[in-house]
Amino acid sequence: MARDIVIWPHKVLTTPTQPVTDFGENLTTLLDEMFEALKKAEGIGIAANQVGVPLRCSWVGREDGTFFEIINPQILERSGDVTLEEGCLSVPDQFAPTPRFHKVKVKYQDRTGAWHEVEAEGKLAHVFQHEIGHLDGQVFVELLAPLKRSLIREKMLKLQKTLGRRKKSGE
Ligand code: CO
Repeated sequence: MARDIVIWPHKVLTTPTQPVTDFGENLTTLLDEMFEALKKAEGIGIAANQVGVPLRCSWVGREDGTFFEIINPQILERSGDVTLEEGCLSVPDQFAPTPRFHKVKVKYQDRTGAWHEVEAEGKLAHVFQHEIGHLDGQVFVELLAPLKRSLIREKMLKLQKTLGRRKKSGE
């Protein structure tokens, strides 16, 4: 079953996640559930803490529309400043120009525990930074100017109330 996506601000989104140490069936199930939530929301990436699980794993979308999982990722190198329009499944319908790096070199494990190292630029580098940010407890709104961030925060608090009411009434 697809899990619900947690809306920012929420402690699970602002707390760094724990490394994955068990590469067994539980991880496969979690990745499957995250993928379902990602497809349902039509996103380009999703981190485990966005479905309420504080573990260091995410799905990352490639430019060709395919996805792969990254587990225990680390950014090894970053270069070139860019500002890109950014949004997030945990901050629905809010988009803002966000400062990022153009290129990153990333090391991560797949679901079998095997390590990979890739250099990415453009869109893929952007998704890597967004997802690894989530795993470090950082949502993109933290990179915006304080005024913009507090405006988005107000909107999200209202949305949380609305969603909470709907849930209670069973809509
Ligand atoms: Co996000």
